[in-house]
Amino acid sequence: MSTNDRPPVPAGRLRKAPEGFVSGDLINEICAHGMDETRRGFLRKSFLAAGAALTAGAAGRALAATPAAGAAAQAAQGDPMILQPRPWSTMLGHPVAFHPYGVPSKYEANLQRRQSPGLTQTAQASVAFAPLQGFFGIITPNGLHFERHHQGWVDIDPDQHRFMINGMVKEPKVYTMDDLMRMPSVSRIHFIECGANTGMEWGNAAVPTVQYTHGMLSCCEYTGVPLKVLLDDCGADLKNGKYVLAEGNDGSSTTRTISMEAALDDVMVAWAMNGEMLRPENGYPLRLVVPGVQGVSWVKWLRRIKVGDQPWNAMNETSAYVDLMPDGMLRQYTSIQECKSVITSPSGGQMLMGKGYYNVSGLAWSGRGKIKQVDVSFDGGRNWRTARLETPILDKCLTRFNIDWVWDGSPAILQSRAMDSTGFVQPRYGQLHAVRGTRSTYHNNAIQSWQVADTGEVFNVHVE
Ligand code: MTE
Repeated sequence: MSTNDRPPVPAGRLRKAPEGFVSGDLINEICAHGMDETRRGFLRKSFLAAGAALTAGAAGRALAATPAAGAAAQAAQGDPMILQPRPWSTMLGHPVAFHPYGVPSKYEANLQRRQSPGLTQTAQASVAFAPLQGFFGIITPNGLHFERHHQGWVDIDPDQHRFMINGMVKEPKVYTMDDLMRMPSVSRIHFIECGANTGMEWGNAAVPTVQYTHGMLSCCEYTGVPLKVLLDDCGADLKNGKYVLAEGNDGSSTTRTISMEAALDDVMVAWAMNGEMLRPENGYPLRLVVPGVQGVSWVKWLRRIKVGDQPWNAMNETSAYVDLMPDGMLRQYTSIQECKSVITSPSGGQMLMGKGYYNVSGLAWSGRGKIKQVDVSFDGGRNWRTARLETPILDKCLTRFNIDWVWDGSPAILQSRAMDSTGFVQPRYGQLHAVRGTRSTYHNNAIQSWQVADTGEVFNVHVE
């Protein structure tokens, strides 16, 4: 259906999909789970049918400008939304500080963290996925950061919180929050990805939306004191101390071994996220930030760092976050999140409104450095075009990519393939399966495929 064929949108429903826009049980189900926001994005972005089979780049952009201008001219002639006074332009607005702490518009209420209907969850051991399909740029808003807890979240009084460094150090020390926040601090933007992100896709589950395939991923500016400064302060034995153990203060007592090399590099003991104190569910008042490493090592409600000469082989290092290899052995300490990318728009559960121009957009990241290049295929991996990388492009950080696409209305399979600054190229499922088998749960960085049907519906599909 092109924008020409669509029934007129009744007044007051401008931001909702028109009748008949949604078809199929799957899409209805997805809508119930809140995809309206992104479909609205498509309403805004989709232009009139492009007609000619122009493919890309500047041509695509120039082409888009013409029909968009035409639509604007039509609107000026008859659209009451622009011609008649609107209620909000003839009334007094709300006073300042109406919400002392700002909240999103009520029209954005559908954009939420969500629990996957397909995952077993207990009240406390659970995960809520971030709605990647509704994000712009690279920063995750604090209220939409994904959540993963082994024993629920706690809200700790910062005055009662203590942080200790012990083990192979000259002088074990206990710090208050005030002590820590007096120390020289740094602010850095990094992604955090749970090692289990995209885990459901190992089993060929093809969950419906990018929120559930890739939503254990967030990216924030963190502020804290480098762990190196604190290790120096306690006189850590850097000759014999090869590892540190990070320990949390919640009921799960989550502990993770981290190499001394990483600890002295860019690991941070952080109290702030995106310019404000951490949210309780993300570790308030203190968490470890371990750039490039899987989320479980980013210990929340951090209470202790212990220096030692051996890995600790804690529960979350032996029975979870390990990779079941094809020979039946378990691989331990696969910590670095390898190079990966995903197209977030269009993505599963969304709907293309008609032939024509689309800005295809997504995210790429690597735990080993910067993103160097992202290629996008529209035919299931046969042909590739290089996407535009938006700045900033930072180490161990999400990078936003965009590419022009003129959809001719026929079925298509969209994929993105990232390369990082080490030259590592994100693998196809076939390549990953050849090395890792199919029985893993963790560390899936395979190329994601979204199938666009001729109806415009977008589905998650597996392409080897
Ligand atoms: N730290 C503690 N103390 N307890 C936890 O349950 N969960 C870990 C890690 N740190 C966890 C923890 C896991 S598995 C992940 S993926 C990240 O925190 C999730 O961080 P987030 O909830 O801020 O997104």
